[in-house]
Amino acid sequence: MAVTGCAGGSGGDDDPTILRLALNQAEDHPSYTALADFAERMDSVSEGRFIIDIYANETLGAQAEALQLVADDIIGLAIVSGTQLENLNKDFIVFNMPKAFDDIDHQMRVINDPEIVGELFTSLEDDHNITVLGGFTQGARHIYSTRAVTSPEDMDGLKIRVQESALHLAMIDAMGGSATPMAYGEVYTALQSRVLDGAENNEVSYYTQKHFEVANHMSYTAHLVGLDYLIMNTHSLEALTDDQRELFLEEWRKTYEFHTELWIEETERATEGAKAGGAEFHEVDAEAFDEALTPLQERFLTTDFQRELWDDTRAAADGGN
Ligand code: GCU
Repeated sequence: MAVTGCAGGSGGDDDPTILRLALNQAEDHPSYTALADFAERMDSVSEGRFIIDIYANETLGAQAEALQLVADDIIGLAIVSGTQLENLNKDFIVFNMPKAFDDIDHQMRVINDPEIVGELFTSLEDDHNITVLGGFTQGARHIYSTRAVTSPEDMDGLKIRVQESALHLAMIDAMGGSATPMAYGEVYTALQSRVLDGAENNEVSYYTQKHFEVANHMSYTAHLVGLDYLIMNTHSLEALTDDQRELFLEEWRKTYEFHTELWIEETERATEGAKAGGAEFHEVDAEAFDEALTPLQERFLTTDFQRELWDDTRAAADGGN
């Protein structure tokens, strides 16, 4: 059977619709759990006529490659971090910015409000053939390294891995460290060989990627609440029938809701697991980091569209500030 990124492939009417999905996480990561459940529900509700094939663990390449595969319609779907989309359209910087979201509830409220995100999520269609369908939270991200960090001064001399994003490079500089961009799957070895002193991520990645084994101090900087996106090739999306599309989006809604629920318990499980493996967790001087990070807003939010999106995002926070 011919399988392309395009729904239904190039086969006849009787062929099932098959979409391949690229993910860079391992099978014990909640994004995999939620997506496997999504695939199972799609299969069962469609009676085997709508198949989502998940390729975990970067088997189709790191996120930058997966993004390109979706744009080229080689695969239909991928989960990519907001930092990847920032490289296609700077407006995505708004949601990659430290302190954009107060917490996961706030983040999910914003990204599921079409009035706020409608234009952003369709902005890659014309030039890149990519539609953003929604998101999975990455939870709060923190610094971890070979030593405890409680203030920006403690970051001095630490080489910290960041995702491939100009904003996040500047973020680590502002926090007092020295940033190195690198793909996710390379971080463990780089930490192990001391090419890096540390990285920044959530507890779940810290544990499931086993980074706690090679950087055993996690410091709760909570510098941002990260966001992953489900992206789809726009032609593949348009090739779905109305019924298929409705079914797909309805099951996707259940998927991100399930993921959000899972996230809390998986964060606890990861924290316990990392502690059992020898990791230590530290509180930080949150005010000092906040002060260091705030100037990034002025530097990186440069257009009216970005500033409006920022204001709408902040207005949806509980305090409305
Ligand atoms: C998180 C996120 C991934 C991202 C990774 C990273 O795990 O969910 O999408 O790739 O961080 O730091 O690269």
